[in-house]
This record gives sequence, C-alpha cells and structure tokens, in this order.
Amino acid sequence: MPQEILLSVKDLRTDFYSSKTSFVTAIQDVSFDIYRGEILGLVGESGCGKSVTSLSIMQLLKDTPGKIANGSAVLDGVNLIGASDAVIRDIRGGKMSMIFQEPMSALNPAMRIDKQMIETICLHQDLSKEQALAHAAEMLKKVGIPDPSRILKNYPHQLSGGMSQRVMIAMALSNDPKLLIADEPTTALDVTIQAQILDLMKKLQKEANSSILLITHDLGVVAEMCTRVIVMYAGKIVEMAPVEKLFANPSHPYTQGLIASVPKLGSGVKVLPSIPGSVPDLASMPSGCRFAPRCKYATDQCRTQEPQLVEIAKDQKCRCWLTQGE
Ligand SMILES: Nc1ncnc2c1ncn2[C@@H]1O[C@H](COP(=O)(O)OP(=O)(O)OP(=O)(O)O)[C@@H](O)[C@H]1O
Ligand code: SF4
Ligand SMILES: [Mg+2]
Repeated sequence: MPQEILLSVKDLRTDFYSSKTSFVTAIQDVSFDIYRGEILGLVGESGCGKSVTSLSIMQLLKDTPGKIANGSAVLDGVNLIGASDAVIRDIRGGKMSMIFQEPMSALNPAMRIDKQMIETICLHQDLSKEQALAHAAEMLKKVGIPDPSRILKNYPHQLSGGMSQRVMIAMALSNDPKLLIADEPTTALDVTIQAQILDLMKKLQKEANSSILLITHDLGVVAEMCTRVIVMYAGKIVEMAPVEKLFANPSHPYTQGLIASVPKLGSGVKVLPSIPGSVPDLASMPSGCRFAPRCKYATDQCRTQEPQLVEIAKDQKCRCWLTQGE
C-alpha cells in the first residue's frame, strides 16, 4: 500500500537577523515528507537546526529574529508557510501540536492549568467547560499524573519540571493532533518517567494513526520509537533512511560517527569514540561539504564542492561524495 503523505516540507530555509541587512542561515535545503501514522526521528548535534526546523514548520518564529526565506510546508493540502494567522490558529493546537524542549515556555505563567487546558480544548472541540475540564483531567491521568484535580488548580510555577513537562504533553495531545512535533519531549524527566511518556506517546499515536516528528539527541530513543530517521548537520539534512537501515548501514560519515558514539549494552566499552572537532559556526560555514573539517575521508573535492542529498538506495538518501561518485 502506498504511504500517504501528511506533511511535505520542501526547500525550507530560515535566516536569523542580527540587523536589518545582516543575517546567518540556520537551516537550508530542508526537504522531507512525514507519512500518516509514522514516527519520524530528527537527530543531530546541538545547534544543527532541529528546533529551528520545527519552529519554522509551526510558524513559531514571530518572537525571534528568525525569518523563513524560502520553502513550503504543506499539511493536509495547506501550506503553513505564509498562511494567515487565522489559518495557523485553527491548525496549531488542533490538527498539529508541539511539545517543546522547555516546558515553561509553552505554559502561560499567569494562568492556572485548568483554565489553560480548557481554553485549548474548547478552541478546537465543541465541548462545554465542564466537559472540557473532565477531558483535561482524563488527559492528565493518561500522562501519569495521579491527582489531576489538584494539579489543575495550580499555576505553572507551582509544578516541578517533570510535572510541567507532563502537563504540556497532556495539553498537546488533548485535541488528538494528526501531527505532533515533539522537541526533546522527555529530556527533563528521569529515565523511568521518560520511558513511560515515550510508551504513552507511541500508544496514543497508534490508536489515532497520527504522526510524530520526534526530535532527540538519543539514538536509543530513535531505535525504540521511530520508523524513519533524518540526520541533520550544520543546518542541512545529511542522511535520511528507515531506522533499521540507518543503524545497520549508516552511509554518511557523520551518521557513522553518531552511531559509533552510542554505548552498546554489555560491550564493556568504557570510552566511546566521539566525533573529533565541533559544529561550524553559522557565520563561517566551510565551503564544499560542511562536514569536511571533521571527516577522515575528506578529499579536495569535498573541500570545494558541496554534495547534494541524493537517493543512494531505496528509501535512503545521503549527502556525501563517497556515496555518489563524481
Ligand atoms: N532566536 C535565535 N536567534 C538567533 N539564532 C538562533 C535563534 N534560535 C536558534 N538560532 C541559531 O540557529 C541554529 C540552530 O539552532 P537550533 O536551536 O535549531 O539547534 P538544535 O539542533 O535544536 O540544538 P539543540 O540540540 O541544542 O536543541 C543555532 O546556530 C542557533 O544559534
Ligand atoms: S562529502 Fe567528503 S567530507 Fe563530506 S562527509 Fe562525504 S567524504 Fe566526508
Ligand atoms: Mg533544539
């Protein structure tokens, strides 16, 4: 059965302005599809553009010096890039919602949790306040909050980091989104709760046949949760593949480095190889392949000509001269 595309992102580019005329490009040439019912992973080192990609898709750059310079992101036939505020308001929190890296930034500090949740629910579902409150309590229960009625009466500052993360997840899932963008959804939580929340997200995703874009540093989480993975480096996609393929046969030297840095259970290896060097500065990107300064296979061609992201096998794309010849 052919897979149905839910979100199609094409040639997305976002710039950050330090003055009217001076800017750096944080992400570029970002193109990918999310299929209905899949969990797509997005991985890469800190600063590679994972959050900027998700904020650009969600149209959440307004309070930043960021501007989308190019591209489209079509969700169920609607291009989100450049859509009116009214269209975005209708979609965000309903058909598409997001869990942030930083829970406090998603919660309104001046509003009690019950009011925030009721507002979100009533904006997208035809329910009375009482029904919305009951639904809010049910969602809090689902994310493992034992006493929802107490938490609902709290303001965000009265909650611990883990608790506010769970409230945010409950809120994001409360309108059965078709697409959930989860940016490091469990980083702030301890390992046991992290596993519980991931299990829950997977369960809810399966029940509703919804899709998740899961942004994480943790390749273990990717292996556990995702169907396909995108690897980003310095603002661009360098590899895209089904999970099993990516782990069994990583093609890009950067992906190989990332996978080699993951501890293998029971291997007894204490010191893991890390990728030498660091991510280049946005203001001074190397010419040619952006990974060349850190790549042990770099040639003169790599240092002068930039490879494109091309299909190298069925469902697998890679941006590296090694995999595509001249
Ligand atoms: N508000 C902003 N103003 C200026 N530059 C920004 C802003 N937000 C992000 N950037 C820049 O865009 C680049 C990509 O950042 P982004 O937050 O997307 O990285 P990330 O992959 O999410 O990293 P992390 O894993 O640490 O969350 C970085 O170089 C960052 O400095
Ligand atoms: S293009 Fe060259 S420098 Fe870049 S990852 Fe491939 S081999 Fe390394
Ligand atoms: Mg981020």
